[in-house]
Amino acid sequence: MDFSIKAFSTKNGISQHKTGCTVVGVYDNGKLTTEAKALDDNGMLTAAVKSGDITGKAGSTLLLRTTGSAQRVLLAGLGAEGAVTDRNFIAAVQAVARVLATLGSADALLALPLDATSGRDTHWGMRTLVTALRESIYRSDALKSKKDESKSGVRKITIGVAEAQLAEAKRVLTQAVALANGADLAKTLGNLPPNICTPTYLATTAKQLAKEFKLGVEVLDRKQLEALKMGSFLSVTNGSEQPPKFIVLKHMGGKAKDAPVVLVGKGITFDTGGISLKPGSGMDEMKYDMCGAASVLGTFRAIAEMQLKLNVIGVIPACENMPSGRATRPGDIVTSMSGQTIEILNTDAEGRLILCDALTYVERFKPAAVVDIATLTGACVTALGHHNSGLFTRHDDAHDALATELLSAGKAANDTAWRMPIEEPYQEQLKSNFADIANIGGPPGGSITAACFLERFTRKYTWAHLDIAGTAWRSGVAKGATGRPVPLLTNFLIGRAGK
Ligand code: BES
Ligand code: MN
Ligand code: ZN
Repeated sequence: MDFSIKAFSTKNGISQHKTGCTVVGVYDNGKLTTEAKALDDNGMLTAAVKSGDITGKAGSTLLLRTTGSAQRVLLAGLGAEGAVTDRNFIAAVQAVARVLATLGSADALLALPLDATSGRDTHWGMRTLVTALRESIYRSDALKSKKDESKSGVRKITIGVAEAQLAEAKRVLTQAVALANGADLAKTLGNLPPNICTPTYLATTAKQLAKEFKLGVEVLDRKQLEALKMGSFLSVTNGSEQPPKFIVLKHMGGKAKDAPVVLVGKGITFDTGGISLKPGSGMDEMKYDMCGAASVLGTFRAIAEMQLKLNVIGVIPACENMPSGRATRPGDIVTSMSGQTIEILNTDAEGRLILCDALTYVERFKPAAVVDIATLTGACVTALGHHNSGLFTRHDDAHDALATELLSAGKAANDTAWRMPIEEPYQEQLKSNFADIANIGGPPGGSITAACFLERFTRKYTWAHLDIAGTAWRSGVAKGATGRPVPLLTNFLIGRAGK
């Protein structure tokens, strides 16, 4: 999908613009937006609204053929004038995207009020619009022998803005498209089957990204991981025939001496549970257990394309969690890179076992902040459902500030998180009779004890943990990766670069 910006003034009005379709808005009180009025010389739009063919409710649409410069006009309902909510605007642009995806026109002009949403600016409107359009044409039929031809509508999108906003709009559009490309990569990787998307495949993807965008990349293999004494990470890969990979990506867009932000992504390319085998039903969805890794790769795709002026390092421990005669047993005790010993009471709590060594490894970068991203616990889905990712940090001023940064980055990107507690009493659930720490803390507060486990490996820097088990993919008929939390992470890094 090809996007461009065009500025319109009263002289150079949108009614003169030649296109297959011009999209304008109408409120639920029946009032046309300024842009719609400019198109309504002959009163056709007013008549359509009067006749009741469109209510103006958010998400309603009406397609009309015209004899003007635009072959068609698509009227889109925006909801209450002066009180358009986030959800209204999102519903409106999604409805527009659905119509455009199957329209018999190759191009369209979007003349919607991007700043109509209460408390939101043009930036937000533009990003939300581009996201919806790109999502509507996303396809997951790469491995189907017959492709879905219904999604071959509008390919060339012109976004109309006021002249004063031209330069700023262009900048925001570039960012929005880069973000969409990053989210797309995360989705595509997540949706790939686990026989294709192996640890080696993730490593190859990282190398390709590095080549395309001139990033630094390093992939450590088993021997190097043994030399680093990553006993915890390596214990998870024991049962697998696929070699583990430890991926390090570097985007050094900031000043050489600036401390980097480090992103650490869980890259379990398939989680059977290991010897603590998961039940069979729905186990295919554990191919999504690398969505943390995918979100790191997607975020790098986005920030590299937008040439973000910030130092960012991505670290991905990648392996499979499989049962076999060589697999780790419940009861095994392993020594992590940090030196802490871990009693593995459940081999299905493997995410924390690979992350803890990665979190120790990143100390060498003297990070400004570390954020790990993981499909870590089913308990997080129970706690927060599918709307918010779980955000965990320690509770002091530096970490409160980081939490606020991440929460507001998520809000602005329509990719929200909700803060959860990490407190001493929960840590006690991780006591082991035989090792420094157990890898599970029992059913109560399962997402919190998982975060508490990670916390013990992050005391040398400022750190946050995002549990994306409920937000990284959808189940059921709409099964598929969402690309979250690439928008949150990218927006967070954009904010950091602006400081
Ligand atoms: N990858 C899973 C978490 C998960 C489960 C995400 C279901 C989304 C849906 C993780 O490795 C896991 O198995 N966690 C266990 C932890 C338990 C054994 C303490 C869980 O959540 O059941
Ligand atoms: Mn597991
Ligand atoms: Zn897992």
